[in-house]
Amino acid sequence: MMAISKIQVRPIHFRFPDTIERYWLGDSAYNTHLLNSLTLLLPDIERYMNHIIKQQLPHITDSQLQPQVRAFVAQESQHASQHTHFWKNLQQQGYCFDGYVRYAQGIWRRLTQHGSLILNLAIVAGGEHLTSLMAEVILTKRFLDPAEPNLKALFEWHAAEEIEHQVVAFEVLQSATRNYGVRLLGLVISNLLMLGLMNWGIILLLQQDKKWSDRQVWQNLMQFWFFKEKLLFRAIISGLHYARPSFHPSQKDNQALAARVLGSLAPHPNSPLRL
Ligand SMILES: [Fe+2]
Ligand SMILES: [Fe+2]
Repeated sequence: MMAISKIQVRPIHFRFPDTIERYWLGDSAYNTHLLNSLTLLLPDIERYMNHIIKQQLPHITDSQLQPQVRAFVAQESQHASQHTHFWKNLQQQGYCFDGYVRYAQGIWRRLTQHGSLILNLAIVAGGEHLTSLMAEVILTKRFLDPAEPNLKALFEWHAAEEIEHQVVAFEVLQSATRNYGVRLLGLVISNLLMLGLMNWGIILLLQQDKKWSDRQVWQNLMQFWFFKEKLLFRAIISGLHYARPSFHPSQKDNQALAARVLGSLAPHPNSPLRL
């Protein structure tokens, strides 16, 4: 196993006042709904990931990896619960997303029921590869600078912890199988599902605002995917890195980004939390 820096579980509880503006990210409907879509999507993905990782935990014999897996699970369950707190605000703003959430939950449930544990571990590892890239985009490009302070803190904390624990799911997969084909299949399935559902969520929320004729929406869309944050290109390049047989997430040069945020947060006294 590659050395994993110690992962901390931090005491954090976000409150989101009812007064938060509808377009809380620089008054941009597109950028706001991009992150709102993640807020709707991530809790169930993280619960799915934890469910899968916990199934593998009894089979992990590496004494260094075990506590890191427990910390990973504790971090992801905190992310899921803290993002869910903002659902109440979105409902108060009039958004309907029950059908969307139920559909996404059905996907993760079917994967759990019908996919092998090995394939699901590969999907989790591939999904974590994408979330750490999105964390880099959010933290590098100052995307969050104009955000409402509570939501800015939520996404900065989450992004930084995604980078902090980016090695764990890959290590768990490697401990279960070295099958290269399964690893690649997991990357493809997870990235298609996550990017597809994320875009569906954005469309759903913009549709409810009837924002399709707004030029700024299209400008922000093009900036995010192609010209400024360039997530589409970065996801393809990052996927090609993942496809190298010698790839390991510790090769990513992103720890300084996380350290800037995590340095200001205190660890939980009982870290890592017990499962
Ligand atoms: Fe997370
Ligand atoms: Fe994660």
